[in-house]
Amino acid sequence: MYLTKEEERIYDGELGWAYQVSMKILVKLGDLYGARRLIPIENAHISGVSYKTIGDASIEFLKALVDSNGKVRVKATINPSGIDYRYAAFAHLPRELVEKQKEVINLYRRMGVNATLTCTPYYLETPKSGAHLAWAESSAVIYTNSILNAWTNREGGPSALASALIGKTPDYGLHQPENRRASILVRVEAELKNEADYGALGMYLGGILGDKIPLLKGLPEAEEFFLKQMGAAMATSGMVSMFHLDGNRESSADITEEITVEDRDLRRVQEELSTSSFDKPDLIFIGCPHCSLHEIKLIAELIKGKKVRDDIQLWICTSKFIRMKAESYVNIIEKAGGRVICDTCAVVTWLRELGIETLMTNSAKTAHYAPLLNGVNVSFLPLKECIKVACQKIF
Ligand code: F3S
Repeated sequence: MYLTKEEERIYDGELGWAYQVSMKILVKLGDLYGARRLIPIENAHISGVSYKTIGDASIEFLKALVDSNGKVRVKATINPSGIDYRYAAFAHLPRELVEKQKEVINLYRRMGVNATLTCTPYYLETPKSGAHLAWAESSAVIYTNSILNAWTNREGGPSALASALIGKTPDYGLHQPENRRASILVRVEAELKNEADYGALGMYLGGILGDKIPLLKGLPEAEEFFLKQMGAAMATSGMVSMFHLDGNRESSADITEEITVEDRDLRRVQEELSTSSFDKPDLIFIGCPHCSLHEIKLIAELIKGKKVRDDIQLWICTSKFIRMKAESYVNIIEKAGGRVICDTCAVVTWLRELGIETLMTNSAKTAHYAPLLNGVNVSFLPLKECIKVACQKIF
């Protein structure tokens, strides 16, 4: 890969270890994928923040970067952590976890990262169409490529952090227009009624597509958060980082294959995602990926005047920025007995330590990961059903 004089100096360590190791990560990636050069990025979004998922080795790496004066050169945001420090229930977690999680967030802050602690950074600041980014967090990557038309590869936590420190990313993959064309046509004949159906569609497609870019035909007019659910699920069961919707972008398609999705395909996925059925989950979790203002408004409308059962917890997860904007809706939800939680989610926190054994969610991504990462049983239902269960009367 070609490096400018300044990039070579960084590579040789003239600016210190933090920048040298970052440059080495980017050059290695670039060489692996055949990039010819580095290109400037507008911002980076970094995953690898929850102490539950990263562990002690990553803390040592972050400390070493801070000790050698690593500072980000572009705006950088971070994914959710394992704890909402404002919510008393998390204080019951073992002290060591609480302290280690604080340390991780602090290390990112010391590098100049904005501790947004959300997986939907695009709700805080929408990237410009055509902007080059270096984002980790697969659900945000597919959203920004497909819905916002900002350009990013699916970075890992270390490569997104390295890009933030250098301010550049290797020019390959989805940074090049010829790699952003659809190669497979998906005819959707299944009936899609809500966000859980879209999530099931995403989960089904991810399993078939691998890393191919689909052009979807036959989708009904969908709410933005339905598409968010579909993309997050596609990036969970597969390596899909972009999709095209039928319409304005068909001319960019380079189709060589075609598949059809029917009702029975989605029903099968929905059955597989529910590891058990139960009348009363310990926790109902909405907000994977983190909720938008519109979703919180919708939930407030659904729950207004009702009461969440005492034996069920209802978590609505979002960023602290959206929570602030949604104050009146938050009041309605909390008055009903739900909790609007920030900086974390049910997947990246320690659910079992919080006494949760059974989970209900409208997110296909969470339904996939929660049994694997948290050892809980899951049932997967649309938002309206989840709220109905949360507030059902006990006779
Ligand atoms: Fe976000 Fe947690 Fe889902 S980080 S995408 S809410 S698993």
